Amino acid sequence: MKGLILAAGRGTRLRPLTHTRPKPVIRVAGRPIIHYAVENLLEAGVEEIGVVVSPETGKDIQEALAGYPVRYVLQEEPQGLAHAVAVARGFLGDSPFVLYLGDNLFQKGIRPFLEAFRQGVSAVIALVRVEDPRQFGVAVLEGKRIVRLLEKPKDPPSDLAVAGVYVFTPEVLEVIQDLKPSARGEYEITDAIQGLIDRGLEVVGVEVEGWWKDTGRPRDLLDANRLLLEELLPKVEGEVEGSALTGRVVVAPGARVVGSTVIGPAFIGEGAVVEGAYIGPFTSLGPGARVMRSEVEYSILEDYAVLEDVALRLQESILGVGAKVQSRHGLPRAHRLILGDLSQVELA
Ligand code: G1P
Repeated sequence: MKGLILAAGRGTRLRPLTHTRPKPVIRVAGRPIIHYAVENLLEAGVEEIGVVVSPETGKDIQEALAGYPVRYVLQEEPQGLAHAVAVARGFLGDSPFVLYLGDNLFQKGIRPFLEAFRQGVSAVIALVRVEDPRQFGVAVLEGKRIVRLLEKPKDPPSDLAVAGVYVFTPEVLEVIQDLKPSARGEYEITDAIQGLIDRGLEVVGVEVEGWWKDTGRPRDLLDANRLLLEELLPKVEGEVEGSALTGRVVVAPGARVVGSTVIGPAFIGEGAVVEGAYIGPFTSLGPGARVMRSEVEYSILEDYAVLEDVALRLQESILGVGAKVQSRHGLPRAHRLILGDLSQVELA
């Protein structure tokens, strides 16, 4: 069994965060999203892992996965998930494989999908009941068998969304070879799976246990951060001075918390500095981030982001790498903003 993680996407719904970096390297609860995919595969016994990257995402993904035993496959053009699988044909050979979308998070891992696959079926699709299935692939089941699959239907036939893990026999590669691009011009994995069904092959759905998150939009990132922080094991390795830490808090090595209040669950990354500040529940600070004389909760500050002397508490916010929010002294009393394309600011 091999594993194929897709990490070539543009992450357009997460702009501006994804203007400079691919989505799977954004940190939730202190770690790049793609780490959780690799860990889940390894934990399920899948040790030969390929990662599909694009010319734009390759460098960052490789940096984020440094030290992990993975191989890289280059998808030159973003032509859809099925296209990414076709590009990885050389890596996959004639082995069955787990296809894992690099922006998906599964609380309880992926073992149940592999177990179902061992019953001798052609494909297993992870499914999850959602309130609004229109933004996902949607499955129609008869018993355990999937009889129909639709990509982002306007009028969903069920509430069973396709979560981003699939297990396939190499048969799917043959179907992909004959695939035509969809209306949005992509080779859809959903169409490939429908192709398996149409050939009379057995495709089964297995519902996800525990929570599942597709980190497509900013609020999904914050929610994923919250869910992962809920499982945090407290550990203080950095320096804590004149501060109150309540609940589950991680202070990573080299981090400094001085004269501050931290209410967990919260993650304070390597070399981060928190001074005269309040860090509230469900907050993650990336390596080298700084929160000085300010308050923040239910937020993500990425590497080297800065929050300094800001009077009002920051909430439900994501600061990208090196982003700065500071108060301004002197006259005129005005906001001064230098915002990249598609940035968002909500002033209270
Ligand atoms: C993709 C798949 C979709 C699936 C979703 C899960 O969509 O095409 O079928 O439900 O991932 O994350 P995307 O998020 O790439 O638009």
